[in-house]
Amino acid sequence: MKKLNVAVIGTGVIATTKHIPCLLNRDDVKIVAICDIDKEKAEKAKADLGLTDAYVCTDYNQICKDPDIDVVQVCTPNPSHYPITMAALKAGKHVHCEKPLALTYKDAREMVDTAKELGLKLTSGTQWRYNPAPMKMKQMVKDGVFGDIYYVKSSQLRPRRLPAYGVYTSKAGNGGGVLLDGGPHSIDLPMWLTDNYDVKSVYGVTFDKMKNFPEGNDLGPWDPNNFDVEDTAFAMITMKNGMTIYMETAWATNLQQSAIGVVAEIGGNKAGADMVGPGFENHVRTTKIVDGKLTTTTEKIEEPVNMNQYDIDHWIEAIKNDGEPAVLPEQAATVVRVIEAIYESARTGKVVFFD
Ligand SMILES: NC(=O)c1ccc[n+]([C@@H]2O[C@H](COP(=O)([O-])OP(=O)(O)OC[C@H]3O[C@@H](n4cnc5c(N)ncnc54)[C@H](O)[C@@H]3O)[C@@H](O)[C@H]2O)c1
Repeated sequence: MKKLNVAVIGTGVIATTKHIPCLLNRDDVKIVAICDIDKEKAEKAKADLGLTDAYVCTDYNQICKDPDIDVVQVCTPNPSHYPITMAALKAGKHVHCEKPLALTYKDAREMVDTAKELGLKLTSGTQWRYNPAPMKMKQMVKDGVFGDIYYVKSSQLRPRRLPAYGVYTSKAGNGGGVLLDGGPHSIDLPMWLTDNYDVKSVYGVTFDKMKNFPEGNDLGPWDPNNFDVEDTAFAMITMKNGMTIYMETAWATNLQQSAIGVVAEIGGNKAGADMVGPGFENHVRTTKIVDGKLTTTTEKIEEPVNMNQYDIDHWIEAIKNDGEPAVLPEQAATVVRVIEAIYESARTGKVVFFD
């Protein structure tokens, strides 16, 4: 069978640590082009990752115009997700667009609708849900272990791990702050776990309290003078069936959590469970009544899953077999709608109701 010809647009951190390595692990795809407005960066990625068959370009329109390219991976900063994805879809390419799918729900919907109309595949990169622990918790939900689930929490309060590289601290460059970075994972995870994307209302608060405290950051210090985005966001998301999601995400805190990553906890009337660390990605702690006594057990999930490879494998298989990608485009669009609502609520102090 003919290999799928893939182009990667944007050759920064996520392209070189997730997309390209995971694509290279497959023998049914060929990376034929890489594009970055910074040509040296693209050339370096090509050399470092041994992309001998790929040509380098600096204008994504060249990728769109290339009739030999079947699939495009959009790995550029957030504001360019919509224009690049739309151009690639209109040129007949399947598109994996990194999270967040877009900056606005209107744009996200247009991307989803365009892909559908043109019979093309579209997905986005909220792969954190494919860690072993959330996959186990999702199975527990399906098995009815929790009973009636009324509370889900997702948390990623990083102790000073703000991405100080690229455009992350600039509203013009990134579209927003942590809500567009950790936010998509933290919003998607509880909804995916419970298979419930039916939002009733959103109340959100954002902060930029750490902007003037750049020292001690894992990824280096940032420039407070080039920092006009939120570094922390909290939200209460109520679903139409009454279930409540509490979401917290922050780039830099003075807190030391036991589990540093995107972690979730589920509360139901029969049982509750959370991800505990260190090793949060494959440890599930369950609490329930056993023989009349409240009992807590922690299980280590031995089956290894590489969340990045899972995302890319399901993406390529969906294209080859006309199936569904791991992250459905409608799910990614709903995540964008919630992000937009959190920003609106934080600005107005009011609860935002969905139709
Ligand atoms: N799924 C995940 O877990 C995850 C993790 C990190 C980043 N991301 C997402 O990936 C995207 C990129 O993040 P990153 O950390 O790799 O950033 P980065 O700054 O490391 O890389 C972005 C690259 O895009 C290039 N670029 C900018 N505009 C371009 C354009 N118009 N055409 C071609 N190239 C362009 C830049 O020169 C840069 O090399 C963001 O949207 C981010 O939200 C996702």
